[in-house]
Amino acid sequence: MSASQLTRRQVMGGVLGMVGVTRLAAVSAAPTAGRSGAAAAGTLTIGGDLVVNRMGFGAMRVTGPGIWGVPRPDPSPYPRGLVIATKGGLLRPSAPQWVPDGRPAHLRVACEGSLKRLKLARIDLYQFHHIDPQVPLEDSLGELARLRQERKIRHVGVSNFNVEELARARRVVPVVSVQNRYNLADRGSEDVLGVCARDGLAFIPWAPLASGSASRLEVSDALEKVAAAHGVSVMQVAIAWLLAKSPAMLPIPGTGSVAHLEEDLAAARLQLTPEELAGLG
Ligand SMILES: NC(=O)c1ccc[n+]([C@@H]2O[C@H](COP(=O)([O-])OP(=O)(O)OC[C@H]3O[C@@H](n4cnc5c(N)ncnc54)[C@H](OP(=O)(O)O)[C@@H]3O)[C@@H](O)[C@H]2O)c1
Repeated sequence: MSASQLTRRQVMGGVLGMVGVTRLAAVSAAPTAGRSGAAAAGTLTIGGDLVVNRMGFGAMRVTGPGIWGVPRPDPSPYPRGLVIATKGGLLRPSAPQWVPDGRPAHLRVACEGSLKRLKLARIDLYQFHHIDPQVPLEDSLGELARLRQERKIRHVGVSNFNVEELARARRVVPVVSVQNRYNLADRGSEDVLGVCARDGLAFIPWAPLASGSASRLEVSDALEKVAAAHGVSVMQVAIAWLLAKSPAMLPIPGTGSVAHLEEDLAAARLQLTPEELAGLG
């Protein structure tokens, strides 16, 4: 995928270095069939000042097998209007290990390292990846608040937070987004999505396609029927369902395949009927 395939107001979520880079594709308001690419998903305003297409690209998998490696080629210089989101708070001592580290000193080093690797003066959206059970979340978020004051971060988001943890985080720093696992088969964060919709936070569902696994997506006859009726894949219906679920939703499907990227982008134009949405629950 080349930078020229990514249009304006894209969101790029990236974790560089040993972990990976996440690019989020083009974004735009309510689903708009006349627009192309991710712009057809409509737009969402993050943190009151950052207008992004309501669909992004999760670039974690461009690092290669095991989500382990340095992405090539260097994605900079970035296309105009690209919005980059990344995270800190998990270590990768080896490929299969994800170890929480929410110490303020680590978050500072991680953020400053991302700034350097991404060649940015400021990261548009920096998310606290995972609460560290050894560190009060207030301490972790407090450091992100300082990095925000220093203008190294434009907006702070959180990831893998429940409703109560989100409320605590918001007492420390303005939180503009939550990135939790959410898809057709896993709706464990429905309550967090509700808070995001109520309070104007973006909800960024990770594993929107249940990691591309039909069994994890629990593909049902109802889902296959909807896909067949529109002549699309079940993965495309999964994306359209997310977009229809809530105006706060900003899915970030991930792929290392240009053909899949094109399919995922085409799903932004897919309009499911109220009956189909009711059937999918
Ligand atoms: N906050 C967190 O804790 C957390 C955890 C995990 C992930 N994330 C973020 O969420 C993003 C997305 O998550 P994810 O990549 O794990 O899951 P995902 O988007 O649900 O699934 C990605 C998988 O789906 C396949 N796929 C994509 N489009 C497809 C299509 N049209 N048809 C068939 N298969 C398709 C891809 O395979 P191909 O490469 O073959 O297309 C890939 O293996 C990541 O990039 C990352 O930024 C966050």
